[in-house]
Amino acid sequence: MTASPEQRILLVIGGGIAAYKTLDLTRHLRERGFFVRAVMTEAAQHFVTKLAVESLTGNRVFDDLFALTEDSSMGHIELSRDADLLVVAPATADILAKMAHGLAGDLASTLLLATDKKILAAPAMNLRMWLHPATQRNADILQKDGVAFVGPEDGEMACGEYGPGRMSEPLAILAAIEQVLATDTRIPLPTDLSGHQEPRGALAGRRVLVTSGPTQEPIDPVRYIANRSSGKQGHAIAAAAAAAGADVVLVSGPVALADPLGGRTIHVKTAREMLRQVEAALPVDIFIGVAAVADWRAAETAPEKIKKDPKQPLCLTLVENPDILAAMGRRSKDRPALVVGFAAESEQLIENAQAKLMVKNCDMIVANDVSKTSGVLGGENNKVLILTKKGKESWPWMTKQEVARRLVARLGTMLAETGR
Ligand code: CTP
Repeated sequence: MTASPEQRILLVIGGGIAAYKTLDLTRHLRERGFFVRAVMTEAAQHFVTKLAVESLTGNRVFDDLFALTEDSSMGHIELSRDADLLVVAPATADILAKMAHGLAGDLASTLLLATDKKILAAPAMNLRMWLHPATQRNADILQKDGVAFVGPEDGEMACGEYGPGRMSEPLAILAAIEQVLATDTRIPLPTDLSGHQEPRGALAGRRVLVTSGPTQEPIDPVRYIANRSSGKQGHAIAAAAAAAGADVVLVSGPVALADPLGGRTIHVKTAREMLRQVEAALPVDIFIGVAAVADWRAAETAPEKIKKDPKQPLCLTLVENPDILAAMGRRSKDRPALVVGFAAESEQLIENAQAKLMVKNCDMIVANDVSKTSGVLGGENNKVLILTKKGKESWPWMTKQEVARRLVARLGTMLAETGR
C-alpha cells in the first residue's frame, strides 16, 4: 500500500537500544510515501545520531524545546498538529510515564501533550521495567486515554534477559500505523470533565465477533489445503469495529498481518478450530464471517509425510467442513442479533449472494467479485454489493479500510433498529 501524499508522521524517538530499529521503520515509511518528521530525546541521541535520522527522514530533526520556540517557521503546537499521527518508537518507560502524567519538560513530551492527533506507542524496555506495576499502570492510563499500542514482544533483550519488552519489528509497527490511520485519528476532547469516559462510537458497548483469513486443512505433517485470502478485509473490519467502540474478538486463520489494534485476536488454523473458537466467544451482538473457510478437508490426515509412488496416482478423499456462518445464522440459542456473511463469487454475483443470504439465514451478505481480473483477492481495494432482506445496494470501489468503516457504521444503525 502507498500512503496518500498528505499522510504525515511525527516520529518521537526515545532513548533505548531499539532506536536502531526506528531507522529501519523510517525507511519503510518513506518507501510507502509517508512524510516523516522526527523528534529525538536527548537520551535517544546516545543510541542513534541526528544525522542518520535526518538522512532517512529527509527532514531536519527537532530536539530542543527552546530552540523551537525561537524558530519562527514552526512552533511546538504547530509541529505536533501538523502530523496525522504521532508514533513513539521506542516508547521508553520514561516517556510513557511522562505521557501518562501530562509532564512536558522537554520537546518530545511537550509535543505529545500538545497534540490533538492520535498517538501510537511502541514500547521497548527491560522486561522488569515493563512488568513493573508503575509502568503497567501508566500503560493502562494511556490506553484509557486512547493511545494505541503495538507490542512489546516477548524475546531476548539486549541485556541478555528473556521476556516481554522488545520493541515490535518495523513491519509490525508499519502495519499498526496503517491501521490507526485507517480510523479516525483526531482525539476528541472529553465533554465530561469529571474524567468519566463512556466508550464512544457507533458500536460502543457492543460485542462483535469477526472471522478473517483463510483456513489451512492438513493433508500430512507438511502439506495443507488453503486459499488465496489475505485477511486484509476481515482484519480491517475488526479494527474498524474496535475503533467504533465495540468489544471485538477476531478469530483469524494464518495471515501475514499484525493483529488489529483493540480487541482480542485468536489464531487458528483449521475450519473446525475456527468454529470452536467462534462458539466459545458467544454471546455477541454481531457476527461477521469474513474468513475464506476451506469448504473441504482431507478425510484423514496422514501421520507421516506422504511419499510419491510412481505406480499410483495419489487420491485424496475430501469431506465437507462445517459452515460457520450457517451455524451462526441458524442458532436458536444465542443467535447474534446480526449475522453478516461475505460471498466471494467469480460469476452470477447477485444470484449466488442472494441464495447465501437465505440458505445461511443471514441479515446481510457483503458480496464481492473475486474473479481473477477484479484484483480483490490479496489487493488493497474492494467493490462490494450489500444485500439485506430489504434490498440491495452497490458501493463504489474503495479501500478495504473504507469498506470496513462504512460497514461498521451501517451495522451500528441496523443493530439500533433491531431494538436489542
Ligand atoms: N463460510 C463459513 N464456513 C464455511 C464456508 C463459508 O463460515 N465452511 C462463510 C464465509 O466466511 C463467508 C460465507 O460463508 O461469510 C460465504 O463464503 P463463500 O466461500 O463465498 O461461499 P460458500 O458458502 O463456501 O459457497 P461456495 O464456495 O459454494 O460459493
